Formats: sequence, C-alpha cells, structure tokens
Amino acid sequence: MKILVLHGPNLNLLGSREPEVYGALTLGEINSAISTLAHELGVEVMTFQSNSEGELIDRIHSAAVTCDGILINPAAYTHTSVAIRDALAAVALPTVEVHLSNIHRREEFRTRSFVAPVAIGQISGFGLDSYLLGLRAIFNHIKKGL
Ligand code: DQA
Repeated sequence: MKILVLHGPNLNLLGSREPEVYGALTLGEINSAISTLAHELGVEVMTFQSNSEGELIDRIHSAAVTCDGILINPAAYTHTSVAIRDALAAVALPTVEVHLSNIHRREEFRTRSFVAPVAIGQISGFGLDSYLLGLRAIFNHIKKGL
C-alpha cells in the first residue's frame, strides 16, 4: 500500500512558525514520525511539501497511478482552493484531511474547507497526532477495500 502525504504552504516553517498554534515540531520531525508509523503498519509513504498550489496539484495527479490514498494538510489552501479540491475529486483516491490546529475554534474563515467534501474525513486539532491518526484512518479504510 502506498500513501502520498502532502503538506501545503508555510508548513516548511513548522518549528518556528507560530509555535503556540502549531507546536514546536519541525516538518522533518513530523515526517519522521509519519515514516516510523508507516513502517509499523507496513505502508509505503511519500511525503511532499510545497508552497505552490500547482505543484501540489501535479503531485495529486501523479498519485492517481502510483498511490492508493492521500493524506493531506492543505494548510491555507484548505480555505481557498477549488483547484486542489477538484484535483482530489478528479483522481478519486481515498483522501484524509488533517490539520495541526483545530480549524473550527479559530478565525471564522478557517472553518470552511473546500477539501472536506471530497475527503473521507477530517482530523483537526491534535498536532502531530492529527497526521498519525489520519495515517491510521486512511490505512484502515484502504485495507477494508482491498
Ligand atoms: C493548518 C490550519 C490552516 O488554517 C492554516 O492556514 C495552516 C495550517 C493546520 O495544520 O492547523 O497553514 O492547516
């Protein structure tokens, strides 16, 4: 089983970016925890971060033929990107949306997600655990379907 893990804009700054909101872990540390869990589950993960909407969309397109599912933190594009939502709908791979912070208890504009309607589900507010719970969720979902 292969899962594409996508991180959206500004997540490359984790560790120094608003640590009171997003925690102290760097993206490298998050990716390494994801890889450790993936190894335990026997899943192959490919992680990718971009600040560019087009690059994220290109990776989603490529995943159509190379991956079984997508774990995505679309970051700010969650709230703005019809293009990322359309790409996810186009490839129709099982997708889980994750957020480090709880997007529902922050500013009003963050409560809307363009991605949620094309995802199996959304996990929000648990820091690193959002990614780890999300990986388990997509793994279990795909395994049921195999
Ligand atoms: C985020 C929440 C978004 O609202 C924000 O734009 C981010 C990170 C999170 O993981 O909590 O960049 O997706």
